[in-house]
Amino acid sequence: MTLADPVTIVHLSDLHFGGFADLRQIEALEEFLPTLNPAAIAVSGDLSQRARHGEFQAAHVFLHRMRLKIPAIVVPGNHDIEWWKSPLGLLGEKQKYAKYLRYYSELRPVLEVPGAIMAGALSSYGVAFGSLTWNLRDVAVKGHLPRSETRRVQKIFAAAPPEVAKVLVVHHNVLAGGTGRMGLARWRSAHKRLLGTGADVILCGHDHHEGAGQIEGGVAVSTSGTHSYRQRGGRPSVFNLVNIDELSVHIQHFRWVSENRHFIASDKFSFGRQGAPKAAVSVAGGDQGL
Ligand SMILES: [Fe+2]
Ligand SMILES: [Fe+2]
Repeated sequence: MTLADPVTIVHLSDLHFGGFADLRQIEALEEFLPTLNPAAIAVSGDLSQRARHGEFQAAHVFLHRMRLKIPAIVVPGNHDIEWWKSPLGLLGEKQKYAKYLRYYSELRPVLEVPGAIMAGALSSYGVAFGSLTWNLRDVAVKGHLPRSETRRVQKIFAAAPPEVAKVLVVHHNVLAGGTGRMGLARWRSAHKRLLGTGADVILCGHDHHEGAGQIEGGVAVSTSGTHSYRQRGGRPSVFNLVNIDELSVHIQHFRWVSENRHFIASDKFSFGRQGAPKAAVSVAGGDQGL
């Protein structure tokens, strides 16, 4: 079996076009990202602030310019859906995603690039039964991952060649991360099912606080920050560069330096790949007991 070459993916999140977007960062990203030579860009949701046309249009222009150079995959965040048009899904599922779908053709996109298959999983449902918790602050903010989503992604990854990297893109943070809060309701069940998808790495956001970690030592998780003025605790904004090689997933943070108006390489974390093809080990010695 031939092992794929390393693949590099830019992971952005929470651009939040609208009143809070930091345009200096957006402009710096436009210039800087192509120089990193990524195979793809993933944007893990919250393109807008209030799901307004102008916000979606600004995000669309940014992504269009990026896509002229680099393929991109985008999933919706909780800010990108008009959940109030169908609270609890009582008026159907279509209304709340209609505006998003005018600008982005899919809620559950799949992107294949050399060396990787990337699948989006939908976690943003607004006020929905699956996302409800006992905390009132969570209403319309938390997400959830239905069984049908993890099963669908698992099938996509199972059908892909074993040597390609499997990248799952979802909006809500799957680890507690910087704020100590989980993005997903019923996260224990979600963790078990995410481990079963066969993903090598999960790309998420929503927390507005960067992170790199693992679910139960099995799947690497990249949490990207925000490029809006709504960072946590006045910390500098961060995006992640994810590199997947034969055996490992490397997650590199790039921090925004406001005075110089550029991003600099910062902390880097490495994790073993869960589903990497294992190198064959030959043991000399015939019938010797091991
Ligand atoms: Fe956000
Ligand atoms: Fe969010």
